[in-house]
Amino acid sequence: MKELTHKPLSGLHGELSVPGDKSISHRGIMFGAISHGQTILHHFLTAEDCLSTLKAFQQLGVPIKRTGETVVIDGVGLHGLKKPDKPLDMGNSGTTTRLIMGLLAGQNFETTLFGDASLSKRPMKRVSEPLAEMGADICVTEGHLPARIHGKKLHAIDYHLRVASAQVKSALILAAIQADKPSILVEQLPTRNHTEKMLNAFGAAVETLPDGVTIQVNPQPKLNGIELTVPGDMSSAAFFLVAATLVPNSKLILKNVGVNETRTGLLKILKQMGGRVVERHRDESGEPTADLIVSSAALKPIEIGAAEIPAVIDELPLVALLAAKANGVSRITGAGELRVKETDRIAAVVQEFTKLGITIRELPDGFVIDGSQPWQVKKHQLDSHGDHRIGMTLAIASLLVDTSFQLAGAESVNISYPEFFDDLESVMNVESYS
Ligand code: S3P
Repeated sequence: MKELTHKPLSGLHGELSVPGDKSISHRGIMFGAISHGQTILHHFLTAEDCLSTLKAFQQLGVPIKRTGETVVIDGVGLHGLKKPDKPLDMGNSGTTTRLIMGLLAGQNFETTLFGDASLSKRPMKRVSEPLAEMGADICVTEGHLPARIHGKKLHAIDYHLRVASAQVKSALILAAIQADKPSILVEQLPTRNHTEKMLNAFGAAVETLPDGVTIQVNPQPKLNGIELTVPGDMSSAAFFLVAATLVPNSKLILKNVGVNETRTGLLKILKQMGGRVVERHRDESGEPTADLIVSSAALKPIEIGAAEIPAVIDELPLVALLAAKANGVSRITGAGELRVKETDRIAAVVQEFTKLGITIRELPDGFVIDGSQPWQVKKHQLDSHGDHRIGMTLAIASLLVDTSFQLAGAESVNISYPEFFDDLESVMNVESYS
């Protein structure tokens, strides 16, 4: 049990550089591994999820050295991975699992993947079924991990994705670069495009057509290693964007945050609700980054539907928290994917927010929240449900209440943001400045 920080007396102040982006750190290791020559990653996210990817590729015979946040990968090429001598441990990481499935589907050896209890409940057929259409031989356990992948020669696919998922799309792109002919993938809605952008930076030919949802993947690229500085993770900065908005008298500067337009749904929502965020020092070389300056604000309620969800998928528990302080009723729908994240995030948000006395109603694909009602705390023991993003959302919520809480499963923050509690302390202890 972790004792959560009390309500800050004079707001949150200061400057933070949040850790490297999780999605980009995973892909940096994977694409560096299948390239020729060296890839150097700076500001790599040294959290448990990305370390699962790093270890898995070492087991696949790729020389990878990490010194702090710098990782050097000696790429072995698209056909240079080796059969690992034991099953690969995916830990808690859905991104590692699904992307590696696409890659290993076309390799000429057999691999077994397993994961922790949470990951072993998450759906894998969404990846194994389209891969099977490409000729892959993947055996999942009643739709879940453990999975056995028997690499095969893959053929091209023309496929409409059934879920708006960047992980599924990326798995299919990684299979399609190993196929015999060009493949076409059509998304339901645009999702984060790091795989497309980064693979092209490594030398691949992955083209997104002007409709924004059709992707053409050319096979057998010769990928070459690159040097890359991973931007700060928008999904980690999000906790501080929301904290500074909601804690009165706050002003925070978040440095070098990744602002790829497929990830900035929270910024749009915050602005629509009346939030105050200013972008400075935008840098467009590679993945775009900017410094974000956020100040406290009074909020209006919001309605969000399916079209807005992919760009804010990981920040939705925080959107629920914003809604719980807005001056009216907000509705978040079209977010059924939240039920198959590290935990069922709809159920977890409703259960924990109810303990805080927030007026919230569960929908099959979202929530209705009445922020105009005062919070009437019912329980002081909160639970992360073993989910990093739920744990951190609750830690931010506790800043808004004048009483102390305990958080079970606080160590789950190590999945994506090991320094979270230290960073939070640091902005609470800085003298207020004008
Ligand atoms: C990710 C895609 C999203 C996101 C996850 C990271 C990625 O998952 O929730 O945290 O790096 O591709 P889905 O593809 O399941 O939506």
